[in-house]
Formats: sequence, C-alpha cells, structure tokens
Amino acid sequence: MLGEWSKRDFNGRKMHPVKRYSLFFLESLIYGPTYGYLNQLIRVPEPLHPEMCWDLIQYQWHPFFNWLRLNYPPRFMRRLLLNRRLVQSHQAGIAEHYDVANEFYEAMLDEKFMFYSCADFLKSSDSLEQAQENKAQAIFDLIDPQPGDEILELGSGWCSMLRFIAAQTGEKERLHGYTLSRDQLEFNQREFGFDVEFRDFITMDYPQEGFDKIYSIGAWEHVRPREIPGVLKKLHGALKPNGRLVKHFFCLHTDKTPVSAIAGQLCFPGSELSSYQFHVDAFEKAGFRIVRRTIHDYRPTLRCWYDNLVRNRDIAIKAGRIRNYNRHLVFLAATWRFFDEGESMVVRFQLEKA
Ligand SMILES: C[S@@+](CC[C@H](N)C(=O)[O-])C[C@H]1O[C@@H](n2cnc3c(N)ncnc32)[C@H](O)[C@@H]1O
Repeated sequence: MLGEWSKRDFNGRKMHPVKRYSLFFLESLIYGPTYGYLNQLIRVPEPLHPEMCWDLIQYQWHPFFNWLRLNYPPRFMRRLLLNRRLVQSHQAGIAEHYDVANEFYEAMLDEKFMFYSCADFLKSSDSLEQAQENKAQAIFDLIDPQPGDEILELGSGWCSMLRFIAAQTGEKERLHGYTLSRDQLEFNQREFGFDVEFRDFITMDYPQEGFDKIYSIGAWEHVRPREIPGVLKKLHGALKPNGRLVKHFFCLHTDKTPVSAIAGQLCFPGSELSSYQFHVDAFEKAGFRIVRRTIHDYRPTLRCWYDNLVRNRDIAIKAGRIRNYNRHLVFLAATWRFFDEGESMVVRFQLEKA
C-alpha cells in the first residue's frame, strides 16, 4: 500500500516519488516534521488503513527525532507562519472543516445528538451515546434554564444541546443559536427549526442585556487569543444582570505557541488555541466570576469517533470523499496523542456576570 501511495498526489493523480518526497521534505523544513508527516498521510489517495494510521501517529520516535518533532520550527518561525494563517476569515476556516457533508458527521458522531465535543465517560462501560448524554445533563445543570430565560448557544453545531434543553424544558421559542457552517444551518432548518442564525459570534454586535444565559460547547477554541478579551466584553454586555456564561472548550498549558499550533492548521485552518491561564485572566478582566470549573478527558471520545469513522467507512467516503476520511482519521489520532502527552486539557466553566 505504501508503495502505491508514494506514486500519487493529494488528489489521487499519479505523482513521481521524487516530487512526493520533495514535498514532504519541503513542508517538514518550513512547517516542521509533524506537519510534513501528517500531511503526507492525509495525501494518501486510498482510505488509510486504520490500525496503520493509528500506530504511525502514536509511534515513539528516537529521542532526537522526538525533540525535533516538538521543537522545530523554532518559536519565532512558528509565530510568523501562524500569523500568516490567522489573516483568513473565520468563515472560510469553519467552512473548510465543517461543511464536508452532514452525512459524513452522521457517520462519525453519536447517533442520538451528533455532539461534536468531548463527552463525559462516567463509567468504563459507557457508550459514546451515554457519555454524550452525561455531558449534556451536566451542562444543562450548569446553565440551569428557568421559565422565561432567553438562552443563546455560540456555535450550535447540529443543534445537539438545543435539542437536549428543549426536550427537558418543553420550551423552544427562547432558545437561540449561531453557527458559521452552512451545512449545519441547513440541517437545522430541515430537521428541527430552532432559531439558529448564520452569524459570526466573534465579530457581531449583541443586543445589550438580551440574554439570561449564554453557553458554548467546543466552539470557544475557534476564538483567537487576541480576539478573546473583546468577545468576552461583548458577552458581558449581552447578559442581563446576574446572567450566566457556561463554557466548555479545550486549551493549552502554555502561552508559548507550540509546534502543534502549526500542525493544527491542517484541520482547523485559521484557529489558534490559548492557554488556560490566559482564559482565566480574560474571564476575570471582562467582569466574570468563576463559580465552578471542572477538567475532562477527551481521549475516549476521540477514540470512539475514530472507530465510528472506520466502521462507517463507505458512508463517510461517499459523503466526504477519501480526502476528508483520511484527514479526520489523522486529525483524531493526532489529537488523541496531543491530549495523551498533556499538551492540552478540556475545561468546563460556569461563570457569572459580576
Ligand atoms: C466543534 S463544533 C461544536 C458544536 C456543538 N456545540 C456541539 O457541542 O456539538 C463548533 C461549532 O462552532 C461554530 N463556530 C465556530 N466559530 C464560530 C464563529 N466565529 N461564529 C459562529 N459559529 C462558530 C461552528 O460553526 C460549529 O457549529
């Protein structure tokens, strides 16, 4: 199999091995070996072999290559490269990741809600479906919807949490959502009819004191560090007195632009993660009081999505083409390692407008 893909390019066209390996070396030289290596796998013109892909990405390198993997390119180059990527609009980055095809994500995510965010595996016997319900219930308790509350979700995905809240409260009219994915918007219009709008929650203006509760699950990661203070200020203004902000997202342990920030552009173009401390400081500076904070393990969810994609391979490829199938296998396995090596953690905050 490796012999065959070494002769083809990104679109499956025949490619001379010299060109293929030149591209790999060039990308590794500019963006670092992690980027070059992962992109080389994504380019395979056939569906990746699942065990081989997982093992290649979890491979324990010789200490020198491992050092190179974690330290090249040097920090000033990482910053320059990243800054070039961060000029692209959020809309373009979101479309590239999320507008693959709804059927593709149906093949990967939990069947019941299609949550695209870390689940709460409370018992080792929990299925993905059960774990996503556990998470939904925990976030529901943090939001604590009351009759008459105006509730807004930033980055509402396939309406998973909106559906959960509506089912629990019997109330749909005061639930609102924003997304930048046209596929998700169309999915909601066709299936559920929630008040979901195609809006950029980073750049938009919010109605003053328009909401009692605002929450986001797995969407805050898309807000670039320099945008965070401004968006928090707007959210603070958009909440009624004593309003509540609930946030579930993943963040870094360090402020020092890791190599993974460059490799991450392969899957989430135009996004950059911030450090835990940066978030905490920004919440407090914007006038929020931290009421509760918990930490969660993303690895079991990532592994379930990986196994779902492999199990539903033909549907996923029909909907999203080989390129997206391979890209997601690579992204899920690489993200698993990213969490396993302790580079990032999933956090959940309940905040109150002070
Ligand atoms: C990983 S999905 C999570 C979806 C959902 N919250 C869930 O838990 O399944 C991220 C969501 O954030 C949305 N999103 C990201 N950046 C956004 C922005 N600037 N404005 C609006 N929506 C955004 C995407 O469109 C997508 O719906």
